[in-house]
Amino acid sequence: MFDKKVQGAMNDQIQRELESAYIYLSMAAYFEGLNLPGFAQWMKVQYREEEAHAFKFYDYVNDRGGRVMLQAIGQPPTEFESPLEVFEKALAHEKKITGHINDLYALAVQQNDYPSQVFLQWFVEEQVEEEKTAGDIVTLLSRIGDNEHALIMVDREVGQRQPPAGAGAE
Ligand code: FEO
Repeated sequence: MFDKKVQGAMNDQIQRELESAYIYLSMAAYFEGLNLPGFAQWMKVQYREEEAHAFKFYDYVNDRGGRVMLQAIGQPPTEFESPLEVFEKALAHEKKITGHINDLYALAVQQNDYPSQVFLQWFVEEQVEEEKTAGDIVTLLSRIGDNEHALIMVDREVGQRQPPAGAGAE
């Protein structure tokens, strides 16, 4: 029996993961406009990762005999002051998502939902990685400041990022 509260919270999380994807796609579009294809590629890969996260929850809710109920996604931010501001926003966003994953885990514990606790462990670890990745780029961009040449070098480096295996609909 799939706990109703956990099911509802997981549906909320599907919305958040898809909203995250949309935010990162908007950030990708901002970088396309700045002619920084590497950062745009990084953000497009992040979009795919978030989509994959949403599908993990989508599949899990179905596997437990629950019902996926999609919710509205808000308008993402479209304008930013600088590449640094984009990644600061991305890091703040990931910290917020970490809080939601932790709340979801706490709910699964409270409801004695053991399969959901096991399922959520992957996300608990993933959020450590998500915060680290965004945080590392914030540090890098803070260091280079207004150095245009260094920015182009970093753009090339971050553009090497590849999409996760099996991202998207599975
Ligand atoms: Fe789905 Fe970026 O956490």
